Amino acid sequence: MSKRALITGVTGQDGAYLAKFLIEKGYEVFGTYRRLSSPNFWRLQSLNIADRINLIPADLLDGTSIVEAMEISKPDEIYNLAAQSFVGASFEQPIGTGEITGLGTMRVLEAIRQVNPKVRMYQASTSELYGNVNQSPQNEDVPFHPVSPYAAAKLYGYWTVKIYREGYNIFACNGILFNHESPLRGLEFVTRKISNAVAKIALGIDNIIEIGNLDAKRDWGYAPEYVESMWLILQQDKPDDFVIATNESHSVKEFMEKAFSVVNLDWQKYVKINKKYNRPLDINLLLGDASKAKNKLGWEPKVKFDQLVEIMVKEDLLRWERFKKGEHFPWDASNYMSETKILTRSLKT
Ligand code: NAP
Ligand code: GDD
Repeated sequence: MSKRALITGVTGQDGAYLAKFLIEKGYEVFGTYRRLSSPNFWRLQSLNIADRINLIPADLLDGTSIVEAMEISKPDEIYNLAAQSFVGASFEQPIGTGEITGLGTMRVLEAIRQVNPKVRMYQASTSELYGNVNQSPQNEDVPFHPVSPYAAAKLYGYWTVKIYREGYNIFACNGILFNHESPLRGLEFVTRKISNAVAKIALGIDNIIEIGNLDAKRDWGYAPEYVESMWLILQQDKPDDFVIATNESHSVKEFMEKAFSVVNLDWQKYVKINKKYNRPLDINLLLGDASKAKNKLGWEPKVKFDQLVEIMVKEDLLRWERFKKGEHFPWDASNYMSETKILTRSLKT
């Protein structure tokens, strides 16, 4: 009989890639989605898997809906990917972020404890937990020092996973994933914001990109590879926590330079710094050490920085070209509001 997996947050970047990965492994895949006033399945549609997923309405704010999702799907494995995942927004909605990203994880663990404690659980923990540390690279032993409401909420989730593992013998694991990107990344994140803007500028649809902290450095990997590590973590004999990263760090400025070079343009002619995109606190540098994952899971990243930027810019270029020809296809950018129109408390100059 095929294994059954329940993915919370199947409509997000990682949820879509993970669902595809698990379907290809022969799993029966169930995914939770939130009821919204407009449909939000473009990622699943663009990967051609929308009709191969069993969708269940559930919200991490509503514990009974998670219990219900478990009872309907009867999973062997749960991947808890749902979250308010944008660090910038966590400064705008700190309480909501705590409810969803922090307490939401506890609701999933409680549902497992009550419905079936034998279910294996993957928790989407994050390199954001490290905050501004003095120790680089960061491995599983480096202490956390969160500097955003998002990271504080994720820290709560991280510890509840360990508590339920040790206290109730639940097979619950943290994947401490460093940033991972793709053409399915949300438009508010810096990499996709840049790849989308570069494509529009190259095609003459736009002529400027406004950006915040160019000096921030991140360890950026390729999302389709990272979802495999989630699955590997749940296939081990014992539950454990793993860092997943490329062990390379690059600045936002380097990402910008490389993205413009893909379309043979000089980035400095099109980039305007706007302090409204700065955060009250930001992380200067993240650099991961995924040796434990390499040794124990046999996982290693293949796509590195230059290739990642090229993949993203070329895909956004292709989409805008198709759009200009009048084609209709699953995509988010054509009706995305310009960020310059969005007023926020913490992002004001
Ligand atoms: P994403 O694209 O923002 O997807 C987040 C998912 O969570 C979406 O499906 C979203 O649904 C869902 N969601 C949000 N609020 C919810 C709620 N109240 N109840 C149920 N579902 C809710 O994020 P991602 O990049 O795929 O990341 C997946 C997970 O990994 C997140 O937990 C993120 O914090 C974590 N993480 C990401 C990275 C990274 O670099 N991508 C690195 C480390 C950890 P809607 O589509 O309805 O909004
Ligand atoms: N979003 C955004 N927009 N970020 C900008 C901008 C801008 O205009 N200008 C500069 N940046 C900087 C941010 O200040 C941050 O230092 C860096 O670019 C990366 O920002 P994001 O792409 O928003 O990602 P993040 O690192 O804050 O968070 C992502 O990675 C985490 C893992 O470390 C998210 O995916 C989190 O959910 C994830 O946990």
